[in-house]
Amino acid sequence: MILSVDPLHWTMAALTGAAWSGLTVRTLIRARRAGQAAAVAGPGGLLIGYASQSGSSEALARAAAAQSPGARLLSLDQIGAADLASTAQAQFYISTTGDGDAPDNATGFLARVMSLRPELGRLSYAMLALGDRNYPRFCGFAHRLDQWLRACGATPRFPLTEVDRDQPTALATWRARMGEPTRTGAPAPGIAPESTRWSLAARHHLNPGSPGGPLWHLVLDPEGPLPDWRAGDIAEISIPTQDGPVRRDYSLASLPVSGRAELILREVISREGRPGLGSHWLCRQLGEGDAIDLSIRANPGFHAADDAMPMLLIGNGSGLAGLLAHLRHRVAQKASGPVWLIHGERSPDHDAVFTEELSGLVAIGGLARLDRSFSRGGEGPRYVQHILRAAATEVRAHVAAGGGIWICGRREGMATDVQQALEDVLGQDETARLMTERRLRRDIY
Ligand SMILES: Cc1cc2nc3c(=O)[nH]c(=O)nc-3n(C[C@H](O)[C@H](O)[C@H](O)COP(=O)(O)OP(=O)(O)OC[C@H]3O[C@@H](n4cnc5c(N)ncnc54)[C@H](O)[C@@H]3O)c2cc1C
Ligand SMILES: Cc1cc2nc3c(=O)[nH]c(=O)nc-3n(C[C@H](O)[C@H](O)[C@H](O)COP(=O)(O)O)c2cc1C
Repeated sequence: MILSVDPLHWTMAALTGAAWSGLTVRTLIRARRAGQAAAVAGPGGLLIGYASQSGSSEALARAAAAQSPGARLLSLDQIGAADLASTAQAQFYISTTGDGDAPDNATGFLARVMSLRPELGRLSYAMLALGDRNYPRFCGFAHRLDQWLRACGATPRFPLTEVDRDQPTALATWRARMGEPTRTGAPAPGIAPESTRWSLAARHHLNPGSPGGPLWHLVLDPEGPLPDWRAGDIAEISIPTQDGPVRRDYSLASLPVSGRAELILREVISREGRPGLGSHWLCRQLGEGDAIDLSIRANPGFHAADDAMPMLLIGNGSGLAGLLAHLRHRVAQKASGPVWLIHGERSPDHDAVFTEELSGLVAIGGLARLDRSFSRGGEGPRYVQHILRAAATEVRAHVAAGGGIWICGRREGMATDVQQALEDVLGQDETARLMTERRLRRDIY
């Protein structure tokens, strides 16, 4: 939380609180003095900022904040130029997404703050960059932020520390630079939370005969106590390979109340015909009853804001996983806002997956509206973005009524086109505002 230095703002906030908490005038004055003291001390203290698309750097930032009492923990979108100008010490945990791009919770900062050149001569900072060397612009957004901070006069405590998602041991370098003690011989703690053991209970081929890649529904049983998670969270699965384990992320389709973890997987085959490492192992090699190491990563950027907010869920293919979790959560609530689902697939004859569950929810009113698009052989809209454009009036009404939008699935061929359709329907500024306000949330890959 940023404590405002504006006394009028503070007084108004305190008065509003006092109205229902029954604060006496004396307590109010004391609170106001304390507030002013905090407002002066706050900006001088440690600021911990993060930019995270799927929760990894946010988790590291949260862990750092937990060890630094009094530190302000903020996503980049919550930070203004004045906050940076009045801060002496900062830590930044910065991921890169897309093609060297800023995560969704930093796009507002990029447009609003990085377009300025504030004087940041007071600021000393440390930056941890999360990325993946398989992408050409490795840690691209972190480098851009680092260069901008230097250009504004801020001083890095040490060079930018890059962490490749396949080499999390580089975190040890960061910890050493930060002066944190590391036990000799102990492996550097990774980004992932502790893994738990599961076994494959069932696997169904969802789309036999489809012109698209095979889609699978996997059901996993925990071998120990069931961990907790929320709709929107991610399963990180450790895939055994000749060169050691590699990690792959999958959106959880189920909730802990079911006692099981459900995933929806597209079996990936490269253009050259090479099977995808993780999806091939999970969809073809793993046998029923075989063990899997899995850790669940909180993905607050794709959580639901509150159960009353009307939800528009948009996705294609395996993206149904992250959307199903939200839908199932909503259906389990006694009173919750309406849900509208738009899902795209290939063929109406082979890819109309989860129809029984979805039609059943429409019948009982758990799903207020269901739209499906098929890119091959069907009548009507071919892609989800066509549905959005055709339903422009209803989409605008949904947003005007305070609704939010959740998008899950492939970045290329879905999320980028949906983004364009939203900008056409709602306007560029409104779409950007929804993202900054976190009423537009994306789990895209
Ligand atoms: C936050 C997050 C959530 C995800 N959720 C899901 C999910 O719910 N279901 C799901 O199926 N996948 C999901 N993925 C994608 C998943 O993590 C893997 O990237 C995917 O299974 C491919 O991995 P692989 O090891 O099989 O292929 P690799 O061996 O890594 O790649 C093989 C080849 O396929 C290409 N490729 C990689 N991914 C894809 C893809 N998705 N489609 C087409 N070509 C591709 C690569 O460029 C490469 O040429 C998610 C990814 C992220 C980051
Ligand atoms: C769709 C997608 C695009 C990505 N693009 C990049 C990139 O351009 N450069 C890079 O270094 N890493 C890239 N990454 C890797 C992420 O930065 C890395 O997985 C990181 O750990 C994610 O952190 P987060 O969970 O905090 O978002 C990309 C990952 C995904 C899923």
